[in-house]
Amino acid sequence: MQSLPHHNRSLAVLTGAGISAESGVPTFRGPTGLWRNYHPEELATPHAFRRDPELVWAWYDWRRGLVGACRPNAAHHTLADMEQHSACLTLITQNVDGLHQLAGSSQLVELHGNLWRLRCTRGCRPPWEDRAVPLPAIPPRCPGCGALARPDVVWFGEPLPAAALEAAWSAARRCQVMLVIGTSALVQPPASLPLLAMEHGARVVEINPDPTPLSERVDEVIRQPAAAALPAWWRKYRRTTDPGLSWAKPAVRPEEPA
Ligand code: APR
Repeated sequence: MQSLPHHNRSLAVLTGAGISAESGVPTFRGPTGLWRNYHPEELATPHAFRRDPELVWAWYDWRRGLVGACRPNAAHHTLADMEQHSACLTLITQNVDGLHQLAGSSQLVELHGNLWRLRCTRGCRPPWEDRAVPLPAIPPRCPGCGALARPDVVWFGEPLPAAALEAAWSAARRCQVMLVIGTSALVQPPASLPLLAMEHGARVVEINPDPTPLSERVDEVIRQPAAAALPAWWRKYRRTTDPGLSWAKPAVRPEEPA
């Protein structure tokens, strides 16, 4: 952190389910993770939805009920504060729980969609927000054409939204510092973002109480839960970078056109 000139740092942050664990949202692969008790192939694939949309929607309705009772924690709030105090921060999340938005983050790239949005299976209109818990009807239908609605999330075997993915790749190429918070770094393509950032010379910091396949490769590992680690990291970063915190346009690297 000491070596980088402070006035032209841009930050990128990649978050996973672990950042919401202290808010009460179950992770996927932890000891009490969703995939320990449920089979993703039965609940989170286009094939499963075609086979039994009611089963899939009952599960998403249950998850919305669970997540709806959760509130952002200190890590979510710190990221919202970091956005307020920096001109160059991109927050890339794999999470569909909407807790980043609830904490006030707006510069957000959602790679896997959002539990609180529904979309028409015929594509007759753009996705819409629906925060009803429980949903009045299972399965819900498109208010426009009456076709089946589906959660606006990315299921296994589906491509990520192209615009979100491109925004994530370009943030990883551009950033000087990348924080990787609460992800097992097992799911592609998000797990490649820190590697791309390192290839482009960024300093990568992992915040996770447990080791991941990334741990050996990153510049710094903070083996603590996010709600404790991130506020402390941000205080230290602000102290050692710039009292004025006015980050101008990210530095132009020799190999990149102005
Ligand atoms: N603070 C920080 N990290 C934590 C905390 C915490 N309090 N608690 C757990 N973790 C870490 C775990 O050690 C684990 O490495 O969070 C990680 C959660 O990993 P996963 O459950 O695999 O979640 P994630 O990496 O987000 O999964 C990626 O897989 O199932 C799909 O689409 C789903 O977006 C998800 C993707």
